[in-house]
Amino acid sequence: MAIFSSSTNSIPQVGEVPRHIAIIMDGNGRWAKKRFLPRVAGHKVGVEVVREAIKHCVSIGVEYLTLFAFSSENWRRPPEEVSFLMSLFMEALKKEVRKLHKNNVRFIMIGDKSQFNEALSTEIAAAELLTSSNTGLTLTIAANYGGRWDILQATNAMQKANPGLSGNFNEAHLTPYLSMHYAPEPDLFIRTGGEKRISNFLLWQLAYTELYFTDTLWPDFDQPAFDLAIQSYQKRERRFGRTSEQLANP
Ligand code: IPE
Ligand code: IPE
Ligand code: MG
Repeated sequence: MAIFSSSTNSIPQVGEVPRHIAIIMDGNGRWAKKRFLPRVAGHKVGVEVVREAIKHCVSIGVEYLTLFAFSSENWRRPPEEVSFLMSLFMEALKKEVRKLHKNNVRFIMIGDKSQFNEALSTEIAAAELLTSSNTGLTLTIAANYGGRWDILQATNAMQKANPGLSGNFNEAHLTPYLSMHYAPEPDLFIRTGGEKRISNFLLWQLAYTELYFTDTLWPDFDQPAFDLAIQSYQKRERRFGRTSEQLANP
């Protein structure tokens, strides 16, 4: 039994503040380039902005914040940049997890963990365990994550669990095996850095998410910039297939 309803099977409740925000934090490299700095300098500042974004979500009452930190395709980057990103991730985990825990934040990592080195895997598992009973914001970091990978791994797991059902699967069979089974579907998707694409992020879950694209580069995505995204969300009419008239007269 899925805990959360599916936006394609039933109409979700929507509130003023998005319950779940998913962000593609893009533009670190260009931010650095504009300042004649190496790309990795942008990633470093990016981590500070992550901290501020988490704080802001806690203060306005967002329940789930999901951040795309490293895609399945980011392994295609120069090896020095990949290893810098891995060590930055490790460093941030070590430095921040205690603070997250103190602030009642539940930390979860989604993605194919099999390609991380042992030290990083151990650190991730420890952080997840330490914060697993926290009841405040659920912070999900998507690392070595790809939406297609997710759907495929869920399909394989679903089939394994229900060998007799072949050919008769429905959404309710699949969703418990998707990486984000513990969260409602995102209400608001934000991509910084100007590109207008999903880049293999939460393909299944974004079915009815409100999309927001901004040219602001991730290292410049401060609280006022975040508030603009939320204000844009608050002006949307979320119809989920219905007409405006139906929304006005339920
Ligand atoms: C996003 O910033 C961070 C990661 C993908 C890890 P980029 O590194 O993609 O920055 P741009 O897009 O090159 O500016
Ligand atoms: C998407 O950013 C992934 C992350 C932010 C982690 P990219 O900068 O890698 O996206 P593309 O490849 O340009 O679409
Ligand atoms: Mg990019």
